[in-house]
Formats: sequence, structure tokens, C-alpha cells
Amino acid sequence: MNQLKPLKARIKDIKLEAEDVKTYILSIEGSFAAIPGQFNMVGYPGVGEAPISFSSIVRNKCFEHTIKAVGRVTGFLNGLKKWDKLLIRGPYGRGWPVNHVKGRDILLIAGGVGLAPIRPVVQMILAKRELFGDVSLIYGAKNEKNALFMNEFDEWGKGISLHLTVDEVIQHPPVSRLGKGGNKGGWKHNVGLVTDLLDKIRIKPENTFAFICGPEIMMRFICRGLLMMGIAQSQLYVSLERRMKCGIAHCGHCQHFGLFVCKDGPVFSYDEVRGLPDGLL
Ligand SMILES: Cc1cc2nc3c(=O)[nH]c(=O)nc-3n(C[C@H](O)[C@H](O)[C@H](O)COP(=O)(O)OP(=O)(O)OC[C@H]3O[C@@H](n4cnc5c(N)ncnc54)[C@H](O)[C@@H]3O)c2cc1C
Ligand code: FES
Repeated sequence: MNQLKPLKARIKDIKLEAEDVKTYILSIEGSFAAIPGQFNMVGYPGVGEAPISFSSIVRNKCFEHTIKAVGRVTGFLNGLKKWDKLLIRGPYGRGWPVNHVKGRDILLIAGGVGLAPIRPVVQMILAKRELFGDVSLIYGAKNEKNALFMNEFDEWGKGISLHLTVDEVIQHPPVSRLGKGGNKGGWKHNVGLVTDLLDKIRIKPENTFAFICGPEIMMRFICRGLLMMGIAQSQLYVSLERRMKCGIAHCGHCQHFGLFVCKDGPVFSYDEVRGLPDGLL
């Protein structure tokens, strides 16, 4: 099978999640399967490609990508409409070890768009809730307008504990997407950094696995905090971001001191990437 061959995907629907962030509901022909944490190279002929994580599980040949428009490729994708087609190559990479953590307590920690690759983990856990122990999600966004998937939080909260925070609250316009009660006129959760929320949770470190995705500086401080709470390095998992071209360990663009982030990752256990010379983790 040619791993580089792109497939056509049709945009069945588009949801506006936040400023410059859209979720694309895509359908493809033929069989397709992916593990949460894996990614596709998503592109358009003549424009280019960008690595984008699955933001949903794959169901009936449909899956979702949640994309923040930051540059050339993602900016172009932002302008696509319902029923347009785009090209995908994948699924690539190593995802979250969801099957490995069955029966254990799970801490999901995300910052900003980093919630996108965590969302299919939440969906998998909620679908088979009895297979997992205590599950908590800690999520931080810049402000309430930038928080993703807020209209799903009420549903998620029925199966897992949610701890939400924003760096700052925007008072005007008021928050109108807080779920059930509609417009609550304000943020009802924490204000402050994601790392502050670590003080508010109680865990059994020996039984807890953490999946972390967000800006590297956030992951660095979260990992340090969790290590201090007694979780072993081998039980912390992070998703790394590097520039990519091929997605299959051929071109070397994503190489990170002997590791190919596209193939060996993007999900790594902390002890695999700790202490590498860039000093990020
Ligand atoms: C495994 C993986 C999964 C990802 N999943 C998602 C996702 O689910 N949703 C999402 O919105 N984004 C995701 N990204 C990030 C996304 O791939 C980049 O934002 C995208 O490649 C930018 O391409 P562009 O052509 O739009 O921007 P460009 O025009 O190439 O650049 C725009 C700006 O972003 C910087 N930049 C671009 N790419 C990177 C990068 N990889 N690392 C650091 N800086 C960069 C550039 O230096 C420039 O300042 C993921 C990245 C990786 C590696
Ligand atoms: S993107 Fe080419 S080696 Fe990883």
C-alpha cells in the first residue's frame, strides 16, 4: 500500500468553535480507522499540507478535524465550505495508549487547541465508561471565547470530572455557550493558569496516567507538577508538535534528536522525551 497516497474527503459540515477555529466533519469512501492522538496530513492541491490530529473517533467513515487558522495552509482550509473536498494522507503516528490504561485513573490535561486530540479520548471513555477508573479533564483556554467544545461539556460532565479555567474573562459580549441554561452572563469556572488547577484535584499517583496536550511551556510545567504529585515519568504522556512534510519518517523535517515526531510520536511518554537537548521537557 502506498502510504503517501492522498484520499479525497468531503466536508459534510463545519462548526465554528472559536475565533479562527473550525471543526470539519469529514466523510471518506472506503474503510478507515484511527487511534485517538494520531493525525492526518490535511491539504489542498496547489496549497500544501498541514498535520492535523483527529478531533473525534472515526464512526461510519466519518471523522472530525478541528483546525485553527494560523498561516498559509490552515488559513486556506478556513475558507472552505460545506461539500467542498480536501485531501488527507494518514492516519499517521502513534496515538494515546488508551487500551493500555483500562482500569486505571486518567487525568486529561489540555490547553487551547490541544483539547482537539484529547476529545476522541473523552469520546472513547464515555462510550465504555465502565472500563476506566476515575477520569478528570483539566482544560485551560485564553478566554471563554477561545474555549473549544463548550457545548459538549454538560454531556462530558455526566461521565468525567471537569476542571475548566481561562487566563482572563471577557465580560462583553457575555458568555452564551455554557450549555443547558443558555446565557449565564459570565464565566462560572476558574480564572488562572491550567497549572493552578493541579492544586484542586486529588489523585492516587500510583494508579493515575496523564495525557497532556497544549503549548510546550504548559506541558513542561504540568509534567513537573504531576511528577511532584508522585506520578511516575512512564505514566505521563505528551503530544509533541514539530513541522512536518512527509508524515512517515522519510524527510527528516520533524526529527527531534533521533526521534521522528511523525512516526515515533506525536504521543510520547515523558521518559522518552525528558532531558532532550532543547530543554523543553
Ligand atoms: C502532530 C500534529 C498535530 C497537529 N494537530 C493540530 C490540530 O488538531 N489542529 C490545529 O489547528 N493544529 C494542529 N497542529 C498544528 C498545525 O499543523 C500547524 O498550525 C500548521 O501546520 C500550520 O500550517 P500553516 O501552513 O497554516 O502555517 P504556516 O504558514 O506554515 O505558519 C504559520 C505560523 O505558525 C508557525 N508554525 C507553523 N507550523 C508550526 C509547527 N508545527 N510548530 C511550530 N510553529 C509552527 C510558523 O512559524 C508561522 O509563524 C498539529 C501539528 C502537529 C505536528
Ligand atoms: S515529517 Fe518527514 S520525517 Fe517526519
